[in-house]
Amino acid sequence: MRFDRLGHTCVVGLQWGDEGKGKVVDVLVEHYDAVVRFSGGANAGHTIVAHGRKFALHQLPSGVLRDHVMSLIGCGAVIDPAVLLGEIESLRSRGVDIGDRLRISDRCQLVFPYHRRQDVLAERIAPAGGKIGTTSRGIGPCYADKVSRRWGIRLGELYRPDRLRERLASIISHKNAYLAALYDDRDPFDAARVTREYLEFAEQLRPYVCDVAAELSGLLASGKRVLFEGAQGSLLDIDHGTYPFVTSSTTTAGGVACGAGVPPTVLDSVVGVVKAYTTRVGEGPMPTELKGAIGQTIRERGHEFGTTTGRARRCGWFDAVATGYAAMVSGPRVLALMHLDTLSGFDELKLCVGYRHGGKTLNRLPAEAYTLSEVEPVYETLPGWREDVGKCRSWGDLPAAARAYVEEIGKRVGAPVGLVSVGPDRAQTIIVEEPA
Ligand code: IMP
Repeated sequence: MRFDRLGHTCVVGLQWGDEGKGKVVDVLVEHYDAVVRFSGGANAGHTIVAHGRKFALHQLPSGVLRDHVMSLIGCGAVIDPAVLLGEIESLRSRGVDIGDRLRISDRCQLVFPYHRRQDVLAERIAPAGGKIGTTSRGIGPCYADKVSRRWGIRLGELYRPDRLRERLASIISHKNAYLAALYDDRDPFDAARVTREYLEFAEQLRPYVCDVAAELSGLLASGKRVLFEGAQGSLLDIDHGTYPFVTSSTTTAGGVACGAGVPPTVLDSVVGVVKAYTTRVGEGPMPTELKGAIGQTIRERGHEFGTTTGRARRCGWFDAVATGYAAMVSGPRVLALMHLDTLSGFDELKLCVGYRHGGKTLNRLPAEAYTLSEVEPVYETLPGWREDVGKCRSWGDLPAAARAYVEEIGKRVGAPVGLVSVGPDRAQTIIVEEPA
């Protein structure tokens, strides 16, 4: 597979997040001039291991680790300035200077402290079965304020201090009343203090803030190659995911156009990232979840603990029905299959190829989360392999059973596997020359 010939590409997760998009972007980025984040916020956690060092990014595009790459954050993302500035500082302290390689859209909505508190309190009082299991980063309340149009504040507004003061005074008085009435919260926010804090953030962010759509238009016109980096996974998409157990943004490839501000026709390719098994963090149905010893083994071998929250991820067999649905929506030209090494040592592996529900077999992801919570997976069983594949560097190095497993995933999901990851390091990556 020629990853240098994909053109303008979107890298998108096809499961419930944590597929390993950060590593895929990091591998592909050498062929690109710019990397763009177009959705989500500090809820995301992209782990990259480069030169033996581990970097965990939440808000910054994964391109920031490469000197030749421009990193952009489009208006579809929400910005928590404290987290973003902390991330820039932490990279600087480890010798990665972003310099003038970062651009943030002046149209990005801002996360405020009241969003984070609202997120936590709403989860705390949710009835049984009603919890989403959010990352507590204020993401849902921030996107809700955005679409309400009454309470959202965009990054560009920080540069009009008088207006900001006025708006925050009115919004915070509303939020204090809301939090007290609904959650009996007795710790009101001080509008003057929040305004001061955000005006300070504004000064620190000033060098990066611009019209990202215009910037991208210029980059595209001058022939630069652009990589769009998805956050979370397609099954957490606000419309196409397992609603309401989803995040609040568009995580599918369709989010590129509105979240970055480019024409939909710009994309030449989509790379769909899948893990060799399934994981999910937070609440919501997961038909192939393994609650016993096998799930525990996968969790330990795959280090399946959240980058953002440290929560243990739920682990299970690969779900080709849910992932196939995500592929239908995002249209990957090729798949990157991650964590194959984690599955070494099992006698057999299972792939979910259908769901049993009410005496029928479903071949497509149902719309309702409660229906999905009632299905029984229909499994196809494949032989496992004993060998440690972490040192394999070519398709031919992989055991035959591992190759057959990878090919079956490609067939079931509906796109060929062009990249296989066999470990966290950049070097532990197999490019499949001629994906089937
Ligand atoms: P929120 O985005 O914090 O509102 O969380 C909503 C749901 O999305 C929860 O189930 C989270 O665990 C999940 N989620 C959000 N971001 C990520 C991510 O980066 N990886 C995996 N799950 C995520």
